[in-house]
Amino acid sequence: MSRILVTGATGQLGRAFQKFSPGYSGHDFIFAGREQLDISKRQSLEEILDKKAIDICINCAAYTAVDRAEEETEKAEAINYKAVTVLSDLTEKRGIVLVHFSSDFVFDGKKCSPYLESDRTHPLGVYGQSKVLGESYILRHHSRALVFRTSWLYSSLGHNFLNSMLRLGAERESLGVVFDQTGTPTHCDDLASAVLEILLRKGGEKNFGLYHYSNEGVCSWYDFAVEIMKLAKLPCVVEPIRSEAYPTAAKRPAYSVLDKSRVKDVFGIEIPHWRSSLEKCFDDLSRTNG
Ligand SMILES: NC(=O)c1ccc[n+]([C@@H]2O[C@H](COP(=O)([O-])OP(=O)(O)OC[C@H]3O[C@@H](n4cnc5c(N)ncnc54)[C@H](OP(=O)(O)O)[C@@H]3O)[C@@H](O)[C@H]2O)c1
Repeated sequence: MSRILVTGATGQLGRAFQKFSPGYSGHDFIFAGREQLDISKRQSLEEILDKKAIDICINCAAYTAVDRAEEETEKAEAINYKAVTVLSDLTEKRGIVLVHFSSDFVFDGKKCSPYLESDRTHPLGVYGQSKVLGESYILRHHSRALVFRTSWLYSSLGHNFLNSMLRLGAERESLGVVFDQTGTPTHCDDLASAVLEILLRKGGEKNFGLYHYSNEGVCSWYDFAVEIMKLAKLPCVVEPIRSEAYPTAAKRPAYSVLDKSRVKDVFGIEIPHWRSSLEKCFDDLSRTNG
């Protein structure tokens, strides 16, 4: 039996871990949202790790406001880098396994084929830079860590592209969405259930290191939006636009598809295609909304 701490537990990925934890009844899960545990407070971290005798820490806490980060550089680095170095050192010292998440935004998007774990990082913005700093600290200093880089996370809950499209699609007759940024959406449910499977059933503890995990397949934000409108049966017309027509504070990589061969080969997992996962998410949404 392991005692597993999930930080950032009220974020969209944290909530997916809450959803799947009952399937691992032999283990004791402790879910801590920001109110229960601020990962930038060393003493709070030490207290919970020691008092609860934690064996595994799954860090879902992060600063994720990609555009705001361009202004709030210090805040982004305080959470995604400085707090992560402390969490890494405290867990390493106690022999606690650390699971951490990073992003496709660590890449500049200049490649035309899926990114490998070994590819050079070169982030285009502050958020991506803070994620590079956090992941590389863990990979250099922690001997028992699993770091998963993922992309375009969404779920039926939380602030994400899916929920923005559902809101805008209900309000507008047409919507321009960028078609010149290519990547892969990832359903939080798939990532959380794969990580628990890897950690607790597939020997994650024997294969520490860096892995890429997204859903299978490739699309643009435009393709993703079209599929969302179709499944939601919204009449809103989605029009393809270039990134220049939708300026954002942070530059995004034009191409950020992740190569998942390593995680599939090492752990023998199968990854669902983004279209089938999106359909499943809609099934959940229709059940929740009655
Ligand atoms: N979202 C994406 O598209 C995406 C893509 C690639 C990688 N990732 C990575 O995947 C991981 C999970 O992301 P997500 O989408 O689940 O993000 P999310 O929904 O924004 O959740 C992050 C959670 O962390 C909490 N948090 C922020 N600062 C904290 C602190 N100092 N102490 C404790 N908790 C704190 C947030 O609380 P508040 O809401 O109160 O701030 C929020 O509940 C992150 O590492 C992220 O960088 C995300």
